[in-house]
Amino acid sequence: MFRLGSLELKSNLFLSPLAGYTNLPFRLVIREVGGVDLCTTDLVNARSLIERNPKALKLIESNERDRPLAVQLFGAVPEEMRDAAQYLESIGVASVDINMGCPVRKVCRVGGGSAMMTEHEKTAALVKGMVDAVKIPVTAKMRLGWDDENLTAPDLARVLEDVGVAAIFVHGRTREQGFSGGVNLAGIRAVVQAVKHIPVIGNGDVTTPQAAKKMFDETGCAGVSIGRGAFYNPWIFTHTREFLATGELPPEPAFDERVRVMRRHLDLMAEVFGETHGCTMFRKVAPWYAKRFGPASVFNKRVVQLKSRAEFDEILTDYRQWRAQFLDEKGELTPRYQLPPMIASFEREPEVTQRTSIPVPKGPMEIW
Ligand SMILES: Cc1cc2nc3c(=O)[nH]c(=O)nc-3n(C[C@H](O)[C@H](O)[C@H](O)COP(=O)(O)O)c2cc1C
Repeated sequence: MFRLGSLELKSNLFLSPLAGYTNLPFRLVIREVGGVDLCTTDLVNARSLIERNPKALKLIESNERDRPLAVQLFGAVPEEMRDAAQYLESIGVASVDINMGCPVRKVCRVGGGSAMMTEHEKTAALVKGMVDAVKIPVTAKMRLGWDDENLTAPDLARVLEDVGVAAIFVHGRTREQGFSGGVNLAGIRAVVQAVKHIPVIGNGDVTTPQAAKKMFDETGCAGVSIGRGAFYNPWIFTHTREFLATGELPPEPAFDERVRVMRRHLDLMAEVFGETHGCTMFRKVAPWYAKRFGPASVFNKRVVQLKSRAEFDEILTDYRQWRAQFLDEKGELTPRYQLPPMIASFEREPEVTQRTSIPVPKGPMEIW
C-alpha cells in the first residue's frame, strides 16, 4: 500500500511520463503485465486542455481499465493550471502532476517545465491555487535543479510540501545535464531529507529490479518511477516487486511472451488510433521490444515501414524463420547472441560517466 494524499495505491512503482510514448495503449500494456498502479499521461498543455483542443483531449484519452490515472500538466499561468486541474478532477482523473522538469526551450520560455524550479515563490503560489481548487492529489515532477550551481530541488520540495502537494517525483539529473552523465542518488536523497512527511519518488535510469532496489536503499525514497526502462522491458514493475519482496529475480520473459505482449500492444494501438495511424505509430515502438530479441535487423528494417496488422504478422513469421539460425536445440539464443544485462548509470564504476545502455528515444523531446 502506498498513500498518495487521499489515494491508496497498490504499488510504490510508477510509470514516468514519456511524451509520445506513454499513451493509452502503452499504459494498458503495462497494467496488463502488472506491478504498477498509478500511471501518468504525457505532458499536456493546460491551456490546450481548457480550450478542449482535440490533440490535448487525445493525450488524456483513457478508459476503465486505465485506472488510477494521473495526468501531467504543464503551464505557467496559475488560472489555467487551476482550471485544467478542476476539469481533470471532474472527469475522474485520480491525480494531477505538474511538470517542473522539462528542459525543452519551448516549455521553459513561457515559464513552465524546469523554469519553475528557478522561481520558488511564484511556483508555490501557482501550486497552491491548484491544491486549493481540487480534492484529488496534486504532485510535482522535477529535476535536481537548473544546473550544478543551482540544485534547488530540496528547497523547492519543502516549499511545495508547505502548500500541500501530495508527493514529489524527482529525476536525479539537472536541466543542464539533459540525459548525459549519471543519476545523482545523493541529490535525490537530499530531496527525501528536505521534506517532512510527503513521499518522494526517485527516478532516472532504473532499468532493472536491482537498480530499483539501489535507488530505494541509497536515497530512502518511498517509491520509484520508471520511464525508458518500462519501454525496454514492460515486465520491470512486476519483476521489481517480486525482487523487493523475495530477493529473487524472476526469469526473463521468453521470446514468445515478448512477442505476445508486443502484438497486444499493436492491437491496442489500432483500437485507440485506428489501424493505419496505429501502425504508423507502432513503427517507433516495435524496435524497443526487439532490443531484447537478440539479432533483429531483419525485423527492424521491415517494421519501420509497417502499414497493417496483417503485414505485421507476415513480418513476424519471416523473422521467426530467420532468427532460428541463432538458436540452439532448446530454442534459446546461443551464448554468442545472448544480451548482456542492462546496468543503470549509478551502478557503474564511478569513472565511467557515459551512459550507454539506455538510449533516449527519438522524437521531439530528445533533450528531456
Ligand atoms: C522521450 C521522452 C519523453 C519524456 N517526456 C516527459 C514528459 O512528458 N514529462 C516529464 O515530466 N518527463 C518526461 N520525460 C522524462 C522522464 O519522465 C524521466 O524523468 C526520465 O526519462 C528519466 O527516467 P528514466 O531513466 O526511467 O526514463 C521524458 C523522457 C523521454 C526520454
